[in-house]
Amino acid sequence: MKRLSPEEASERAVRLRQEIREHQYRYYALDNPLISDQEYDKMVLELQELEARFPELVTPDSPTQRIGGVVSAAFRSVPHLQPVLSLSNAFSQGEVRAFHQRVWESVPEAQLQYVVEPKIDGLSVILRYQDGLLSLGLTRGDGYTGEDVTANVRTVRAIPLKLRTSSQGTSPEFLEVRGEVFLPRQDFGRLNQEREEKGLPAFANPRNAAAGSLRQLDPRVTAERPLGALFYEIRSKSRGDSGSLSTKTEVEVLKVLKGLGFPVPEYTLCSSLDELLEEILVWEEKRHSLPYDTDGIVLKLNDLELGQRMGATAHSPRAQLAFKFPAEQVETKVLDIIVQVGRTGVLTPTAILEPVRISGSTVSRATLHNEDIVRDKDIRIGDYVILQKAGEVIPEIVSVLKEKRTGNETAFTMPQRCPVCGSDTVRLPGEVARRCTGVACPAQVREQLIHFASRDAMDIRGLGPSMVDALLSAGLVKDAGDLYSLTVEDIRKIPRQGEKSSENLVGAIKASRNRPLAKVLYALGIRHVGQRASQALADEFGSFDALMSADPQEIESVPDIGPETARSIVSARNQESMETLITKLKKAGVAGVLDVAFAEAATEGPLFGKTLVITGTIPGMTRSQAEDLVRELGGKVSSSVSRNTYAVIAGDDPGSKLDKARTLGVRVMTSQEFKGIANT
Ligand code: IVH
Repeated sequence: MKRLSPEEASERAVRLRQEIREHQYRYYALDNPLISDQEYDKMVLELQELEARFPELVTPDSPTQRIGGVVSAAFRSVPHLQPVLSLSNAFSQGEVRAFHQRVWESVPEAQLQYVVEPKIDGLSVILRYQDGLLSLGLTRGDGYTGEDVTANVRTVRAIPLKLRTSSQGTSPEFLEVRGEVFLPRQDFGRLNQEREEKGLPAFANPRNAAAGSLRQLDPRVTAERPLGALFYEIRSKSRGDSGSLSTKTEVEVLKVLKGLGFPVPEYTLCSSLDELLEEILVWEEKRHSLPYDTDGIVLKLNDLELGQRMGATAHSPRAQLAFKFPAEQVETKVLDIIVQVGRTGVLTPTAILEPVRISGSTVSRATLHNEDIVRDKDIRIGDYVILQKAGEVIPEIVSVLKEKRTGNETAFTMPQRCPVCGSDTVRLPGEVARRCTGVACPAQVREQLIHFASRDAMDIRGLGPSMVDALLSAGLVKDAGDLYSLTVEDIRKIPRQGEKSSENLVGAIKASRNRPLAKVLYALGIRHVGQRASQALADEFGSFDALMSADPQEIESVPDIGPETARSIVSARNQESMETLITKLKKAGVAGVLDVAFAEAATEGPLFGKTLVITGTIPGMTRSQAEDLVRELGGKVSSSVSRNTYAVIAGDDPGSKLDKARTLGVRVMTSQEFKGIANT
């Protein structure tokens, strides 16, 4: 590079930045690049070299400054300026008609126009620009508070770090926009391949991959993922509205966004219900040619003023609707039908399939649930079948292509003996499940141990499926009771176990001895005794021994406990293996089984005497951890909202309980507020 004076260097840097920005805009927003990738890379390289020689020239919005390289411990929470709403869903033409009818009834204009956009299957992001520069990137979070992912969104090249200026050379003082960050379909396959080569678990679908990429504590990881982004909403409603951006319609919003440098989705404009219904069919085909995955289309009333007039529910604007495409179906072949043995000994037939891509993920097995379903659908090994996947639902075989049979297919029969331990299998009258009768069936023992250690049960960190397998194959444990006599030396015998991780595991096992009765009851994995029943039993009996000696009628009279559950408890406590386990747990000092009074509700706390309802997920906690926290704070948890409810805690993706709270005027608490109470 030729010698440049500081002035020349400064001019050249300004020039290069402008050009690079322009090319990025042409590439990402206009999809119409003028130069080759190599020429572009050369310009970036020149700028990088220039900035390296004259560091004082570096500006935060320089295209070279996308990666900050700061690894943070957690994402900061930032309140949204206005709630980030979601969309209500429709699955049929009838629902679209009803939507149009509602629109027409509330804003009876002669010609209602709708914009149809793809519903991008990615992660919603909200970006703020201050004086034309990207200042903040947030996730949707619970709709009221988002996570600060600024460092990560900066690495997404489709996101402008600096807004383009209008022809008058101005850009809005403050701007907030909303869009979707996604991983292009084609990159998804490549990313998963790379992950598998590195021994990392594959992402289930592009949406998860995008979310996982954006919620990275190290922005350098995000930068390596070829994320794309599309924007569809201007949200600057406060902090001095972006006055210069007057938009009257959704179409204008997209145009203005594009003018500011944002990539926008393609759209169509419809002027009648019939056109709208027709467009749905067009998009059902068109979606496959898009470079990203879609799970539907979004219908938006074009006139923003009319949309404003219609208002919104707690969840979604009334003038917009998501139409979800019907479940995708593909053909594949059943290569084998295997039988898996679960925690309670249930044998589940599972089809091994020729791998196929469906709704953005590759599927190579499908549960067949039970022998009746296999028989009713007449699924045979070697059959060609139709596999269906609806949204996030697990894939299932809907039918067999009988016309493709060659006669070489083999019918499946459930084994009379357990494929794992060889014990007899039985099917009790009135049940669809066939079970292994083996008391010490390794498959059951394994699943039982995994369940015992799981988060909602004894919550033993570091004791997941692979550690359970290692402990079992080293012969170190036979049941959950043996966990408590494990020593650091024992665990160190397992290959690749260091001193530190062995100590941690022993520590975590020890700590789990303090779990209360309800957790221990749940951890025992007695059939029909789920988390709710465990809590009810703990509340009622107060001690383990009281439950063990209660007569069946007494157990049955507990609210939420039915005769089947009561029978299951009685049968479990009579089993020798259960007795052995309980003895070991008592000896180990597991508090929940010792004869001390438990489940004494807290007698004080900030939520004392108050009833709360939880809806949605509270970030960082399982539902039962959140319920425990309410109880620890002195409150009671209920599953339904009434006027007596003190507050509804609304987490991510809240359900109808939030609407009910709003209707009844019950206080709504965000996840943040709830955690705030816990921390004071
Ligand atoms: S409009 C007020 N348009 O779908 C609601 N959303 O299921 C504004 N999404 O949370 C949303 N593509 O994250 C809109 N073209 C599009 C979209 C879109 C994807 C997401 C968005 C929203 C979710 C609702």
